[in-house]
Order: sequence, then structure tokens, then C-alpha cells
Amino acid sequence: MPPASIQQRPDKDQPASLAFCSQAVHAGNVIDTTTGAIRTPIVMANSYRLPDDPSALDWSDSQTLFYNRNSGHNQLCLERKLAAMERGEEAAVFSTGVAALHAIFFTFLKSGDHVVVSDVTYEAVWRLFSDLLPARYGIEATFVDVSDLTAVREAVRPNTKLIHAETIANPTTKVADVRALAAIARDAGAMLSIDATFTPPPMFRGLEHDADFVVHALTKYINGHGDAMGGAVIGRAELIRRLKADALVDVGGSISPFNAWLIMRGSVTLPLRLAQHMSTARKVAEFLDKDSRIAFVAFPGLASHSQHELASRQFGGAGYGGVMAFAVKGEPDRQNRFVANLRLITSAVSLGHDESLIVHVGKAGRGGSECYPDVFREYGHLRLSIGLEDPADLIADIEAALGDTFG
Ligand SMILES: Cc1ncc(COP(=O)(O)O)c(C=O)c1O
Repeated sequence: MPPASIQQRPDKDQPASLAFCSQAVHAGNVIDTTTGAIRTPIVMANSYRLPDDPSALDWSDSQTLFYNRNSGHNQLCLERKLAAMERGEEAAVFSTGVAALHAIFFTFLKSGDHVVVSDVTYEAVWRLFSDLLPARYGIEATFVDVSDLTAVREAVRPNTKLIHAETIANPTTKVADVRALAAIARDAGAMLSIDATFTPPPMFRGLEHDADFVVHALTKYINGHGDAMGGAVIGRAELIRRLKADALVDVGGSISPFNAWLIMRGSVTLPLRLAQHMSTARKVAEFLDKDSRIAFVAFPGLASHSQHELASRQFGGAGYGGVMAFAVKGEPDRQNRFVANLRLITSAVSLGHDESLIVHVGKAGRGGSECYPDVFREYGHLRLSIGLEDPADLIADIEAALGDTFG
């Protein structure tokens, strides 16, 4: 018996020719050949029946279904969908966003290599490059302000193998000019990886801006419901296959079939959700920007953002994501009191969920915070991820909490 393979629905699985919202519904979905179920069922089995002669099986193969660490039915369906959505050749999914990021670093860097990393980056990446990878594996890293392309060029060395940045950086909302960074990487014979967690498609597709890898914490917007963790890397087939062989099969970090299924389901409504997140975020940011009790607001959609023009050009003007950072005037305790006074917006980490989430990060709260703009260091900051609530309700919640906080 041959190994199981994914049966695609030929009439619907035409990702390249479908509009994004049609892809979000159909790409990667498979009609179950046993039951006729029109939505891919969850296959929780760890193992799949082997071919009659398994001796020729490549144990690093991540395309054939035989063991869930290598690949599983739901994982493969999600990978096909993500590749279609990002217009990439292939995708690899992992248990978390950090596992996906680490997979790139583990697979494509070796001792003696050098990396140029954005000075504002997700905390785990900061720690990997400021401590773990240099200290344990001899990988050199230079943290650079990626909004200064001259500084990026100057940071490149003969052994630079990778440039890594976030499209909109967590939490300062610094914007990376992906095409310009890709040109610098190309000139240096290096690759560019872009963490696009804050800017999922259709808002932005990093591969079309010449990035080699696009990474998503699927945990955030692509799942969108705050109930599953996952990560993905999308890129050229040859690179993704290497990454899966090295970092998925031989390191683990595979996503569970149930989480892959949840993310597949959540991603169906991504275009609708994202439009709502982005439109509400703009209204809330504008409201905060006008209030004299607010010390600063960092949101690329505001004309006051130093990279507003780049963000408008790069993201096409439809929106600027759904995350902003701000602070109320006063000491850190005032930030805490403001958060405690919120009734609708929940104090919790994470972002891109259906509900609005806020987190108070203190002045010295995170690795790399010495590279944050002065106002972040003066006040600490609140990171607000706008959910799907009505904008008027969110603004009313903030207004009431400001009133209670400032008495
Ligand atoms: C930009 C960015 N990248 C990666 C991650 C890590 O994702 P995960 O928590 O799924 O590992 C996060 C988490 O907040 C993030 O904000």
C-alpha cells in the first residue's frame, strides 16, 4: 500500500489565481476521502501506515505521511495554505513562533557566521543573539537600527550570512524597509529573514519584497482566536526542505494536529478580521494621540510616526496593523493603575487575538530595551493589541480608565 498523500480538490485548489479571501477559505482544505467531510478532519494519529517495502523510506522526509514529527495530515494542509497566502513555494509549520524563528537560525547559521539583527526585536530573538547563540555556538551578531540603512550596510561583514528584522517591530513599531534590506543582504551574499507577525497577508507579503524567509507567529493574527500556538516559515522550496529536515525532523518542535487544525480554521476569517483590527487601531491611536494625558503613542499609521511614509508605501495604505505602544503620563504605577481601571480591555500578553489585550512593560522590562526610543525608557510602555470589539466601546473604556486614573 502506498503512503498516504494529500488529496487536493482540483477545482478549488488554485491558490495563485484566487483572490485572498477565497484562498483564506479554500487553500489547503481537503475533502476527506473516507467520509466525504468537506472540511479537513483532525488526524491525531502519531503514525501512518507504511508502504509494503519501507526500507527505502527517507527518515528525514517531511513530505510523506509516516510520523507526525516529520509531517502530519493537518500540518501539511496548513503548510499548503500558508504557502498560498504568502505566495511562497513552500511553508514549514512549528509548535510556536519562536520554534519557527529558531529553525532558521539553527539550519542556516554555523559557528563563525555573523548575523545582522534589528536592535528592536522579539525578546526571545534578542536573547538568542545576545547570549545563547554567540556563547554556545560561536555565532556572532550585531544589533543595528534597521531604519538606518547606512548602519545596516556598515554592520555587514564578510562572514554575514543573515539579516533578520521584524516588518513592524515588537514593541516600538519601528518599520523595516524589506526591499532595501533584501538588497543589502543580496549584495553581501547573505539571506534576509523577516518576522511578519505584525503584518500578515494580505496586508504584506515579504517574499514579494525579496525576503528569503517570512516568519509568522501563527499564535497571533493568523489563528486570531487566542487558543492555539504555532509558527511558520515560508520561502523557496529548496530552503524550506532543508529547514524541515534539520530543524523539524531532527530538533522536533512540531505543531500538534489539533493546533494546526485550529489555526487552519482561524485563518479562514483572517482578511475580515485584519481589516477590522486595522481600522479600529487607527481610530484608537488617533484618539490617544490627541489626549493630553498620554505621554506618547507609537503606531505607524499616525502621521507623527517617523516612518509613516515608508509604512504607507510598503503596506499599501490599507492599514498599519493592530498593535500600538503608548504610555500615560506619570510614573510606572500610573500605568498600572490605568490598566487596572480598564474594564473591557484585558491585561494579558500576546496580540492579534479577537479580544483587545494590553500589557504594561516596565522601564527595564525587556532584553534590548536600552535600544528603545527615549520616551519608552522614560515612562515604560503599554503595548495594546486591538481586538474585534466595537471601536467606540474600546475608546469609551480607555476614556473612562483615564478619567479614573487621573481623578
Ligand atoms: C513579533 C513576534 N515574533 C515571534 C513571537 C513568538 O511567538 P510565539 O509566542 O508563538 O512563540 C512573538 C510573540 O509575541 C512576536 O510578537
